[in-house]
Amino acid sequence: MNRFAAGRMQRIEQSGIRRMLEKAMALERSGREIIHLEIGRTDFDTPAVVKEAAKKALDEGFVHYTSSMGLLELRQAIARKLREENGIEADPAREILVTAGASEAVMLTILTVLDPGDEILIPEPMYLFYLDLGEYAGAKTVPLPLSPAEGFQITKEKLEKQLTAKTKAILLNSPHNPTGHVLSLQSLRAVAEIARERNLLVISDEIYEKLIYEPHRHHSIGSLPGMKERTVTMNSFSKSHAMDGWRIGYLAAPADLVWELEKGQQHSSSILHPSPRSGHRGFEARRPPDPAHGRRIRPEAPADDGDGGRVSPLLLFPSPGRLLFLALSRGEKNGRVGDGGSPP
Ligand SMILES: Cc1ncc(COP(=O)(O)O)c(C=O)c1O
Repeated sequence: MNRFAAGRMQRIEQSGIRRMLEKAMALERSGREIIHLEIGRTDFDTPAVVKEAAKKALDEGFVHYTSSMGLLELRQAIARKLREENGIEADPAREILVTAGASEAVMLTILTVLDPGDEILIPEPMYLFYLDLGEYAGAKTVPLPLSPAEGFQITKEKLEKQLTAKTKAILLNSPHNPTGHVLSLQSLRAVAEIARERNLLVISDEIYEKLIYEPHRHHSIGSLPGMKERTVTMNSFSKSHAMDGWRIGYLAAPADLVWELEKGQQHSSSILHPSPRSGHRGFEARRPPDPAHGRRIRPEAPADDGDGGRVSPLLLFPSPGRLLFLALSRGEKNGRVGDGGSPP
């Protein structure tokens, strides 16, 4: 332990999954063939149209600082997407912040809203990266245990059991890593009701929005009545566009909260060159940006994918989120990736 490391950093753990990835990469460098099941990487490539736009942007000189909120054109495209697909009205000038992936969006939000002593409620099982974040802010992570028998759905009663006077926020992730479950509208309504009654913030990580298949539907809790002013909706291009290495995500929140969040951004990354521009193009080309995109994450993947590939035995909860894992386990066959609880 380094004697200069602050207590808040010493309180959190190194990511086990990241450590596993490092080991796997070292083995790969030594010539071993590795099937990656630790990191959540899609089994298709960034759409060609996005890559071309990025190359063009570089050639056009988009290599300099821009607004710490993110390129305005990108925020405008995100605002359109949120309106059309998620039913969320967000002002691109004041209510959308572009981040370095959903990871930065979560981290920034936690550090911005939690004070030491506050509690944040997170459904369990959870994406492991969340676990330490509350502690990092000096706050406490309170798990909300959900059960596979109930399809990992949330009820008001369950929530009420875990709430205390110190609860400040609830963090949702649907579609969910690692179980793949999708929160029903009923569950979201239960969370919204409690959030309104108790004046809580909801942080909604919707990064797997596009990895969802019939009969499930993705609903954004930020679109429910009275929720816009108490929800931070976050997403990224990592999974939907196989752009995990590009590090582009975003959040939408009320303007006065984005004002606070932006300070964190200004004092840290102030990123956004030139990838936001390319991200903007890729975003517009989303439906579908490239024939490969979409085809490879289509839901019809059978248990045996018809190409001699076997479905991964890691299909732990094969009902609602089954196809998330199916899609990713197909990547395993290609010797590339898998998923299930991976940090960025
Ligand atoms: C639930 C969840 N949220 C956030 C992230 C991080 O995504 P990003 O690449 O956008 O930082 C991941 C990555 O696997 C994830 O599974």
